[in-house]
Amino acid sequence: MVSRRAQHWGLGLGLGFPLPSLLLLLLALNPTQGQGGQGCPQRCECLARIRSVSCQGKRFSTLPEGIPSDTRLLDLSGNRLRWVEHGDLLPYSRLEELDLSNNSISVLEPNAFASLTRLRVLSLRANQLKLVPMGVFSRLGNLTNLDLSGNNMVVLLDYTFQDLRSLKQLEVGDNDLVYISNKAFLGLVGLNELTIERCNLTSISSQSLSYLRGLVTLRLRHLSISGLEEQNFRKLGALKGLEISHWPLLEHISPHSLQGLNLSWLSITHTNITSVPSSALRSLAHLTSLDLSHNPITVLESWALRDLVRLKELHLVGTSLATVQAFAMGGLRQIRLLNVSGNVLVTLEEGAFHSVNTLETLRVDGNPLACDCRLLWILQRRKTLNFDGRSPVCAGPVEVQGHALTSFSDSALFDHFTCQKPRIRNRKLQQVSAREGQVVSFSCHAEGEPAPVIFWISPQRRRITTRSGGRVTVLAEGTLEIRYAQVTDTGTYICIASNAGGNDTYFATLTVSGLPPDAAMLANRTFYTGDLNETNLNDTRVFLKFTLDLKTILISTAMGCIMFLGVVLFCFLLLFVWSRGRGQHKNNFSVEYSFRKVDGPSAGGGQGGARKFNMKMI
Ligand SMILES: *[C@@H]1O[C@H](CO)[C@@H](O)[C@H](O)[C@H]1NC(C)=O
Ligand SMILES: *[C@@H]1O[C@H](CO)[C@@H](O)[C@H](O)[C@H]1NC(C)=O
Ligand SMILES: *[C@@H]1O[C@H](CO)[C@@H](O)[C@H](O)[C@H]1NC(C)=O
Ligand SMILES: *[C@@H]1O[C@H](CO)[C@@H](O)[C@H](O)[C@H]1NC(C)=O
Ligand SMILES: *[C@@H]1O[C@H](CO)[C@@H](O)[C@H](O)[C@H]1NC(C)=O
Ligand SMILES: *[C@@H]1O[C@H](CO)[C@@H](O)[C@H](O)[C@H]1NC(C)=O
Ligand SMILES: *[C@@H]1O[C@H](CO)[C@@H](O)[C@H](O)[C@H]1NC(C)=O
Ligand SMILES: *[C@@H]1O[C@H](CO)[C@@H](O)[C@H](O)[C@H]1NC(C)=O
Repeated sequence: MVSRRAQHWGLGLGLGFPLPSLLLLLLALNPTQGQGGQGCPQRCECLARIRSVSCQGKRFSTLPEGIPSDTRLLDLSGNRLRWVEHGDLLPYSRLEELDLSNNSISVLEPNAFASLTRLRVLSLRANQLKLVPMGVFSRLGNLTNLDLSGNNMVVLLDYTFQDLRSLKQLEVGDNDLVYISNKAFLGLVGLNELTIERCNLTSISSQSLSYLRGLVTLRLRHLSISGLEEQNFRKLGALKGLEISHWPLLEHISPHSLQGLNLSWLSITHTNITSVPSSALRSLAHLTSLDLSHNPITVLESWALRDLVRLKELHLVGTSLATVQAFAMGGLRQIRLLNVSGNVLVTLEEGAFHSVNTLETLRVDGNPLACDCRLLWILQRRKTLNFDGRSPVCAGPVEVQGHALTSFSDSALFDHFTCQKPRIRNRKLQQVSAREGQVVSFSCHAEGEPAPVIFWISPQRRRITTRSGGRVTVLAEGTLEIRYAQVTDTGTYICIASNAGGNDTYFATLTVSGLPPDAAMLANRTFYTGDLNETNLNDTRVFLKFTLDLKTILISTAMGCIMFLGVVLFCFLLLFVWSRGRGQHKNNFSVEYSFRKVDGPSAGGGQGGARKFNMKMI
């Protein structure tokens, strides 16, 4: 370094000599020199009062000469520094803040900063560091902020930060990190805040995080991690906030991955999870704010957040949310803010909340809301609820399309925002008698506003919906379909059409009679082989299956034999005729045979009689 510094001097003098003496005089009378007592480097700005030296963006490729040794704040950002060696900073043991960001530093000597025991803030952001060797940060026991983001580091080695007892904030984002060694964070007992972003990490092991006992905030952004380990954050008992954002490969959050945490806020956004990770959230009883925005979550299911008894804020913005089920926020007794703006919700019913009385702020703008009786509760509270400046707007019905909810007058309140109770059309009595094994269907069409949901109740009081699978189901338009009717299906079926306005019911009866034994056998066989969902196999079924299989085997074996025999016979015939024809013609020969002689399926198309074939031997 000494030689480089000498060079610098030489260059300075070389430039200095031809300059007019006036300039030299001006330099000598630099006003800051008088104030600080120790001068200020050329081209830099100094504030003697706070002992700061700023040489920002001055194209220095080495440390400028003349930095006063009592400098506390030194800004060398935006220069062309390429390395930092032990001797460079030796004289500046009073430094408290050192900014080396936006240089081209690719080499840090071990002990490079060892003399700066008072250093509190060190920025090495946006340099070209590939590796931080062990010992670079040794003796920096007073350092509280360290920024290593925007470099080209590929790994963080063991013990890299081991002396940084006081470090509170560490940035290691925007690197090419592919691996964080298990003991890399050892010693960072005081770390409050850690940000890891835009790296090529495919996992963050619980082992490496386990040294960060004091961590309060952890931000993990723009990572290609596809899953979390079981108890990934288990030792982070002090952690209050966790941000996981922009993990496009994350599709599932396993139930135990957040175990051991006691978070106040959690934000999982811009990932590929398709449902609320209810079981993983279960242990977070002190969570007050949850943000699941910008994930492809289309349904907020009943009781999805039931254990988050202290939750006050819930954000589900821009998730393509289409349904908020009844009691979706069941258990959230303290919910104060709900932000579901920018989704595809048609409605948000009062029944989704534990109680709407705790709600203070509601964002449901940017949804295609149907302004019927289901939104009446919002309308009634429109003067007290805080819409954060974005009143919800009606997308229908046509009379109120485009109207903001806050714009309705009290008198208009009951002209709109009404629902029409469902009415089942075509109520003629359906009394059907069927034989065992038949398909039976009952129609049930209803109209109402909003469009009613239709389900049926079986004679055994079972609820049958469009989601019921198997033999008995409800088709999309409300029709009940019973396949392979059985005697036990006999009874009265009730259709219920239901919407927010009320419900309508309708009855249909079915009588299924048994079949004569042969036909019943056939019906049972079709049913058992056709519908394998019902796998309650008993003797009859096993037997039926067996006979069926045996028959199939016999028939196919017989068919195979006949075909085989036919082919063999045909070959023999060819050979026979060919051997007889030898000698007579060299290349051509005729085949003469009767189709009648060959039995089996291949002979089916023949009209009988002899046929002639001429073949050419090659
Ligand atoms: C921190 O700085 C103080 C002076 O401000 C100094 O006395 C002390 O030794 C430093 N601590 C460490 C661990 O270097
Ligand atoms: C990290 O990922 C980026 C883009 O995905 C890629 O350009 C870069 O080469 C990767 N770095 C390493 C070390 O794998
Ligand atoms: C997100 O998930 C969907 C299917 O669940 C998949 O098609 C898509 O590729 C995933 N996106 C990313 C970025 O992995
Ligand atoms: C969890 O954190 C809350 C404060 O957010 C605290 O009151 C509670 O005692 C903590 N529980 C445990 C088990 O540490
Ligand atoms: C609701 O979410 C939007 C979009 O993320 C945001 O801009 C807005 O500040 C949020 N409002 C509240 C009250 O949290
Ligand atoms: C049907 O409506 C009545 C009152 O109108 C209500 O008591 C009943 O619970 C409703 N039944 C169903 C299944 O929705
Ligand atoms: C057909 O199945 C029904 C019920 O599954 C049973 O009651 C009946 O005895 C069966 N019939 C025959 C001929 O096996
Ligand atoms: C076989 O199963 C059918 C339908 O589950 C039942 O009706 C019949 O009694 C069963 N037979 C025996 C022998 O268990």
